[in-house]
Amino acid sequence: MGWTYLCDAADVAPNSLKLVKAAGVQIVVANYGSGFRALPPICPHMEEPLEESGVIANCVLTCTKHLWAWNLASLELLGETEKPLKTYETKEEGGKVLAQIDQELTYDFEDEDDMDDDFFSKS
Ligand code: FES
Repeated sequence: MGWTYLCDAADVAPNSLKLVKAAGVQIVVANYGSGFRALPPICPHMEEPLEESGVIANCVLTCTKHLWAWNLASLELLGETEKPLKTYETKEEGGKVLAQIDQELTYDFEDEDDMDDDFFSKS
């Protein structure tokens, strides 16, 4: 798969996030000051839209809902964060942000109701 245009680099100010649609997939573009990341649009914790719940400072993306946080340069998990961020391979070229979108990246979310059902059916 080739590189897909997401947005102009100038469209995403440093330390901000922008929701875009490319190749039929919703993607949040994060500018962490020294680079860009292209991410699925929701927090891997409880599906908050990162464009609204996310803040970036000092290379760190924090979801303000429950304070999960990741270093956007290294993708290191910080604090109480339990799940890694998924990312599309990204590059900036000629003032444009491009990503490899081979397939839509999604997270698995546990359905608590289902877990309860399993629990009772086994007992
Ligand atoms: S929903 Fe993002 S930290 Fe909980």
